Amino acid sequence: MMMGPLLGLVFLLLIQGQCCLDCTVPSAQQWLVTGLQAQLENDVKPSPSVVMALNLAGVRDSSATKQFIQDIKGVKEMTSGKVALYVLALQSSCVDPKDVPTEGGRVNMVSALEEKTDEEIKHYYDTGTPKTTYYQLALDIVALCVEKSPDAENAAAILIKVVKGCQSKGCFGVDTAAMVALALTCVHNRMSKMEGAITETLHEITAQILGSQQESGIIGNIYSTGLAMQALNVTTEFYPAGAWKCSKTIEEVLRKMYEGAFTNPEAGSQILPSLVGKTYLDVATLNCFSDPNITVHYTVINQLIGPYFNYSITVKVPKGSVLLAALEAAQSVNPTIFSFQTESTSWGPMVISIHGVNGSTDDKTYWQFLSGEKPLDQGVGSYKPTDNEHIVAKFSTY
Ligand SMILES: *[C@@H]1O[C@H](CO)[C@@H](O)[C@H](O)[C@H]1NC(C)=O
Ligand SMILES: *[C@@H]1O[C@H](CO)[C@@H](O)[C@H](O)[C@H]1NC(C)=O
Ligand SMILES: *[C@@H]1O[C@H](CO)[C@@H](O)[C@H](O)[C@H]1NC(C)=O
Ligand SMILES: *[C@@H]1O[C@H](CO)[C@@H](O)[C@H](O)[C@H]1NC(C)=O
Repeated sequence: MMMGPLLGLVFLLLIQGQCCLDCTVPSAQQWLVTGLQAQLENDVKPSPSVVMALNLAGVRDSSATKQFIQDIKGVKEMTSGKVALYVLALQSSCVDPKDVPTEGGRVNMVSALEEKTDEEIKHYYDTGTPKTTYYQLALDIVALCVEKSPDAENAAAILIKVVKGCQSKGCFGVDTAAMVALALTCVHNRMSKMEGAITETLHEITAQILGSQQESGIIGNIYSTGLAMQALNVTTEFYPAGAWKCSKTIEEVLRKMYEGAFTNPEAGSQILPSLVGKTYLDVATLNCFSDPNITVHYTVINQLIGPYFNYSITVKVPKGSVLLAALEAAQSVNPTIFSFQTESTSWGPMVISIHGVNGSTDDKTYWQFLSGEKPLDQGVGSYKPTDNEHIVAKFSTY
């Protein structure tokens, strides 16, 4: 991405223009989130955390799930945390992780995770530390809890004990503390017989996470911030209102994103859920039978050469469709108004004419596509609209 100082300034002005009391991405910066989603979708061999993030954002193409499943190999050699990520990724893809049709036969990833978590627990009671890390143990609990496996509570008992044993800050790094908070919140909400102890631990751990909040809004460092946001989002009852300046955190994350901090897919996948208001715990409640279509609002405007026009339509297209599909849907509903023509270019199809009005190199006119008021940075053959997005085709000059 180009990053002149001028652009940086424009960005700042945009951000300050609207103050964001709530904990959501301002609409003027929504394109950054859309760009991140597109970047993750282009990942040809997505990791489970990328798959989960895209599913939480509701933008993943279901045809990609098949490939993802086929790529699952060597479960025995995976660490517990890796298996946990696969369980969450599969569940978020609406594939039953207890019965996964891999190339090497059907696999029960939940019982694989239970075994690996039992090893972690045994290792802890034998040596005082888990076999891998507390981060992975916490991630295991999140996945087991989402799958309602009773093993989640046995493992959670360890985390409670550990947090109790180190009440000063510095008990865990921010990302581990955040995963512990997610794990214990899940157990607390879904299964707990350990009411009091969990509540106390969640007060403790959220205080620790909030203690790592920087002046800038970052929590820990930029890479732990996404997970910390998830943790703080689900634990609001355990810390004082106002202790987390969420809008400030979002603002700083977006600024760093603009500077290219999340081009690595793993980093991107850790931040995306928070920017779409989701957490790993939402994997449990993703609606697998929801509408497979998204709604796209489409407007064509010509104010350049008469007769002028301004027409709008709302169409439904399958989730994951490119913009061209929405244009085709509009055309098939109302061919008189929404007819269009494309020309193929080396960047993919380009719309050269809408409603009989042609772009022209002589007049330097063309059909510009915008999301709301923001010009699209991809062509109609690759841009994927999100649910309820407003796409505008505007006859413009260059
Ligand atoms: C926190 O959760 C609420 C829903 O409970 C959501 O609307 C909001 O966007 C979330 N914010 C973040 C930063 O996750
Ligand atoms: C989704 O859209 C297709 C056409 O694009 C339509 O046939 C189908 O009924 C729609 N499904 C739902 C649930 O609306
Ligand atoms: C196009 O029409 C809509 C209402 O149908 C209106 O809100 C919008 O301002 C119009 N746009 C222009 C550029 O005239
Ligand atoms: C616009 O372009 C199409 C195809 O390139 C052509 O068939 C049509 O005649 C053109 N219309 C005008 C008004 O120039």
